[in-house]
Amino acid sequence: MHVLVTGAAGLIGSGVAARLREDHDVTGLDLVAGEQVQVIGDCFDVADWRHRAGKIDAVVHVAALHAPHVGQRSEADFRQANVKATSRLLDFAVGAGACSFVLTSTTSLYGHALMPSGGAVWIDEQLQPQPRDIYDETKLLAEELVASASNALNVTSLRMSRCFPEPADVMAWYRLHRGIDRRDVAEAHALALSRKGPAATYVISAATPFHRDDCGDLSLDAPSAIERRCPGLIARTAQQGWMPPNSIDRVYDASLAARELGFAPRFGIEACLAADWDPLPSA
Ligand SMILES: NC(=O)c1ccc[n+]([C@@H]2O[C@H](COP(=O)([O-])OP(=O)(O)OC[C@H]3O[C@@H](n4cnc5c(N)ncnc54)[C@H](O)[C@@H]3O)[C@@H](O)[C@H]2O)c1
Repeated sequence: MHVLVTGAAGLIGSGVAARLREDHDVTGLDLVAGEQVQVIGDCFDVADWRHRAGKIDAVVHVAALHAPHVGQRSEADFRQANVKATSRLLDFAVGAGACSFVLTSTTSLYGHALMPSGGAVWIDEQLQPQPRDIYDETKLLAEELVASASNALNVTSLRMSRCFPEPADVMAWYRLHRGIDRRDVAEAHALALSRKGPAATYVISAATPFHRDDCGDLSLDAPSAIERRCPGLIARTAQQGWMPPNSIDRVYDASLAARELGFAPRFGIEACLAADWDPLPSA
């Protein structure tokens, strides 16, 4: 397939574009240049770049304004970049006769629902999003637009968890409950691209060892819950100087993606202990 990947100069888009090149022809689009970018342009201004992109069979829409831009960019900018550009891209994909559209979405859109009340929050696709800022609001609107195109395209939204470069111990512990390696994000996009069927939305995060009935313990005494589910892990991480969190406020559950997409994340806390880190993006 010939796949258009938007946001291909960014952290996630560059990883997604590089992974998809293993199986597909990929054209990377971004406002700025990057190793994975072939077309420089704004997703919103389709007429400016559509002829340079060529015949497209699928779109993977990663580009967005996101959490770090809240407070720095106007609400109008968020609506333009995240909602109106998604609408334009959907029209473009349908008009081009594409078969699939994958949206990179975010667990951030659960918003206020992420606030614990009497235990850690278990987050899966059944939990109702409660956007708390313009980023959450516009990503949810983008998901709704994508779902509404399901009569013309195979559409999938991937609500990915946290994937920023952070201190090693922070990233490692997050992999138990609220973080993901960029290589697993890229693999989820590759799986979503070949999915067929009604519109679907998936939480995408590293595999968690926890169960829903751990939520009370996770909030009150996370080390006990960690030791119960991952015996010996705290001792092994101590050798790296990594101290476990005292309390865990949320758990992202990607089991629906595992069942329906075949998503099998490989880079959890054990990969971190083995120093198997994602190389920094080249963009
Ligand atoms: N990084 C994370 O932890 C994380 C977590 C959840 C969801 N996400 C989602 O992943 C996606 C990418 O995030 P990222 O971390 O790679 O951000 P990023 O800022 O590194 O990359 C975004 C890229 O999109 C480009 N872009 C923005 N607006 C554009 C437009 N109108 N036209 C063309 N290109 C445009 C930017 O130039 C940039 O290169 C976003 O949709 C975000 O919601 C990221």
